Amino acid sequence: MAEEKDQVGKILYTQSAITKRAKEICAQIDKDYEGEEVILLGSLKGSVMWLVDIMKYTTIDTKIDFITASSYGSSTTSSGVVKISYEPQTNMYNKNILIVEDIVDTGNTLKYLISKLNERGPKSIKVCTMLDKKARRTTDIKPDYIGFDVEDFFIIGYGLDYDQRFRDLPYIAYLEEDDVESI
Ligand code: IMP
Ligand code: MG
Repeated sequence: MAEEKDQVGKILYTQSAITKRAKEICAQIDKDYEGEEVILLGSLKGSVMWLVDIMKYTTIDTKIDFITASSYGSSTTSSGVVKISYEPQTNMYNKNILIVEDIVDTGNTLKYLISKLNERGPKSIKVCTMLDKKARRTTDIKPDYIGFDVEDFFIIGYGLDYDQRFRDLPYIAYLEEDDVESI
């Protein structure tokens, strides 16, 4: 038997809690898009585990693609500059696009992403985020599907990283200062 990973940070949501919530959201997505085709557009890299859950538990006709957008804002300004470094190849004209995100923080990344994707003439654009950190929002972005609301913590695991580490943890946790000192 393989050994389990060492626990890092304070656990907020276990794998079973995440699976349960993903199934609830997918039932809603199935209902909302009944009879329609949906392109699940995973925002790399953080959305990978959540994207797998969404594609696994929805029963509607889905296709997947990915986009990479990173926000380079200084910590003192709320208007971060966003850069797209990987463009999806899928033709989005007249298609339903469901952006799958790891976490919405200020909302800068999503706001930019949605405006760029709108140039491709999609039928619809909605957002399904695993986590919503509402306290930090500086834009008018409101995700359509939200896994869990989280407080203003630094979150790791289930795709989310701290300096590219801990994306592989099968749970959602937060880091406190004493955790950061010991890793
Ligand atoms: P926004 O543009 O401020 O909404 O930034 C969203 C992006 O910042 C997310 O997609 C994550 O990649 C990253 N991010 C925001 N909060 C956290 C966190 O608590 N842990 C890890 N990454 C985060
Ligand atoms: Mg992200």
